[in-house]
Amino acid sequence: MKITKICCIGAGYVGGPTMAVIAQKCPHIQVTVVDLNEERIAAWNDENVDNIPIYEPGLSEVVAVARGRNLFFSTDVEKAIDEAQIIFISVNTPTKTYGKGKGMAADLKYIELCARQIARISKDNKIVVEKSTLPVRTAEAIKSILDNTGNGVQFQILSNPEFLAEGTAVQDLLNPDRILIGGDPSDDGQKAIQALVDVYSNWVAADKIVTTNVWSSELSKLTANAFLAQRISSINAMSELCEKTGADVNEVARAIGMDSRIGSKFLKASVGFGGSCFQKDILNLVYIAKSYGLNEVADYWEQVIILNDHQKRRFSNNIVQTLYNTVSDKKITFLGWAFKKDTNDTRESAAIYVADDLINENAKIAVYDPKVSRKKVLADLDYLDTRAASKNETSILSFESPYEACAGAHAIAILTEWNEFVQYDWQKIYDSMQKPAFVFDGRNILDGPTLEAIGFVYQSIGS
Ligand code: UDX
Ligand code: ADP
Repeated sequence: MKITKICCIGAGYVGGPTMAVIAQKCPHIQVTVVDLNEERIAAWNDENVDNIPIYEPGLSEVVAVARGRNLFFSTDVEKAIDEAQIIFISVNTPTKTYGKGKGMAADLKYIELCARQIARISKDNKIVVEKSTLPVRTAEAIKSILDNTGNGVQFQILSNPEFLAEGTAVQDLLNPDRILIGGDPSDDGQKAIQALVDVYSNWVAADKIVTTNVWSSELSKLTANAFLAQRISSINAMSELCEKTGADVNEVARAIGMDSRIGSKFLKASVGFGGSCFQKDILNLVYIAKSYGLNEVADYWEQVIILNDHQKRRFSNNIVQTLYNTVSDKKITFLGWAFKKDTNDTRESAAIYVADDLINENAKIAVYDPKVSRKKVLADLDYLDTRAASKNETSILSFESPYEACAGAHAIAILTEWNEFVQYDWQKIYDSMQKPAFVFDGRNILDGPTLEAIGFVYQSIGS
């Protein structure tokens, strides 16, 4: 089948960048990204490409090339579904906040709505691709909805999980380690796989495109994220031991990372991993294991989350303890709020939980992040629903610049590893702070000895 029209439902952190790169690399394919959220679509269509709703290095350049040529953003979901031969589903699958599986299972209501809409609208055969991370065997549910509510047309369901990391999305899409496509072993299933392989072949080498059955593909995505998160919890567990013994976690990470069987990536101790994927996917894995009665498997993976929660709490406890067991009415400055550098995404960011703990202790917090507004900080805290919004409002301070954010503070906590923090004039910051001036480096990015020479009391994770 020659593919000329693709549609993607969901213009978020996955759908937006992925479709932009497909459009850039496949000028002969019309790519339409649709979303129910009118504000989001309007931002994607903003005349000034710097105002697109997602910040990713290099993304606005890709959008500038393809938008209006063969890349379109629209709220007309029905038209886009009707015209497309391949439909990507890239809607959010948050952890359920109610009912069975609450706090663990993925909430598939948005996926189901999409499937029902696709079934109702489609008048010819379609390939439906799961792009969102989904629990194993979701494809079966999608297929059942499509086959039982559709207009008698044929649907092929493929699983094509996205492995991009935020902050490096464009590079990851342009040079992926692998593209994974799972489909049905039948002839029609294999033809659908081939159609999608042909799209990626426009820029990805054949030996990097892996095809499997649907379930292997779905489970591989959960497994990849679980393994990556597990490495972070493993090094974070060692960071606590290092603090007690006088070992330095950075030295330990370097020493073990040189073992080619272990490898050097994802060994950076931190205040804890965040982001929309790791916690959600592991909880999902735990839920699936439990639902098959595999309690030891479930407990094994759950420990990765338990350790991550411990690491965040340990960081906030340490701030309180070090500041003489009280932070009440003290100003504490957060440098960074996003869950990692080079993104404006704050989902599950460790900063949210550290702030929550400190507000419980009546601290006043000035949050500076180059890509996150005070409004978003307040929305993230309100979403936790720990206390009245008015208390969050009075606890999160306003200011004009990062230097003003630090002035008068008792302590600075580094929550995100933005490059610009390293470049700051730390002498000037020291001079403007309460003494003793503390820095809690949750990302191990600052030069400790230099800060100590200025006069700071400097503490970093795991040393
Ligand atoms: C992750 C996976 O990497 C990606 O393949 C998948 O598609 C989606 O989930 P993402 O969440 O965007 O990507 O970012 P990632 O770079 O994996 O970082 C996740 C969290 O772990 C961040 O909070 C980051 O700061 C933290 N981290 C990462 C560490 O604390 N230490 C490390 O060594 C690496
Ligand atoms: P991700 O990080 O997985 O991309 P996001 O939350 O950034 O998640 O994006 C998911 C997008 O999907 C949101 O913009 C949301 O409005 C959109 N969405 C959810 N359900 C539907 C639907 N039924 N039709 C169209 N768009 C939807």
